[in-house]
Amino acid sequence: MLIIEDLHTSYNGIEVLHGINIEVKKGEKVALLGANGAGKTTTLSSIVGIAKEKKGKIVFNRQDITHLETHDAIEKGIVLIPEGRHIFTKLTVEENIRIGGFLLSKHRNDMQENMERIYSLFPFLKDRNSQMAGTLSGGEQQMLAIARGLIGNPKLMLLDEPSLGLSPLLVTKIFKIIDEINNMGVSILIVEQNANIALDFTDKAYVLELGNINLSGSSKQIKEDDRIKTAYLGM
Ligand SMILES: Nc1ncnc2c1ncn2[C@@H]1O[C@H](COP(=O)(O)OP(=O)(O)OP(=O)(O)O)[C@@H](O)[C@H]1O
Ligand SMILES: [Mg+2]
Repeated sequence: MLIIEDLHTSYNGIEVLHGINIEVKKGEKVALLGANGAGKTTTLSSIVGIAKEKKGKIVFNRQDITHLETHDAIEKGIVLIPEGRHIFTKLTVEENIRIGGFLLSKHRNDMQENMERIYSLFPFLKDRNSQMAGTLSGGEQQMLAIARGLIGNPKLMLLDEPSLGLSPLLVTKIFKIIDEINNMGVSILIVEQNANIALDFTDKAYVLELGNINLSGSSKQIKEDDRIKTAYLGM
């Protein structure tokens, strides 16, 4: 579904991704791990056209999307849930979700249907649909950000550290929700600092170090790798 081939991404001429290769198959859950500054967010930004200085190739459903604009990526079915919650605190829960669909003219017709789908996945958001989003708890705001990403019926969801700053209980809840989204047929590429949880939850993982993929394989296999144990799992 998504193939990243020999991708080099730079900011103002300074290269931060040095030729990475990543593949996400249809229905797969894939983790992208790595230390601070390794280039995880840059990888996601490159896919959705936020980072523009690129060499190499990004292919989505057999179409070259290397130099696509951000709104075109959304139209093609790729949604990014960025780090931090980026919700509109002074708008209601429902307005926040609907705003996710404003760019999607051609999806306008199924908006109501999608709202229902989203509310069945997040019943607490339905109960609070007219509440100001800023009054939700941190974890609830994170779920709202994920819910909003579903309004355009994505085929691939990119998540940048969705569990950041949440309690262990909420982290489990978020991962459960992402699992349900995956079960609805949405492929997942997730950036996580919490390698332990990410490896338990995904099929496959890539480890970025200073802009290079230094390790990849099945998540199960990677969890047993001694390099990962010492560097990321504190074992
Ligand atoms: N907009 C930007 N302009 C210039 N340099 C940037 C920009 N965004 C990121 N960088 C640099 O690119 C490198 C990779 O950053 P990136 O944000 O992709 O890392 P990350 O793996 O997501 O880190 P973290 O875990 O801290 O979120 C870093 O050296 C960072 O300083
Ligand atoms: Mg980041």
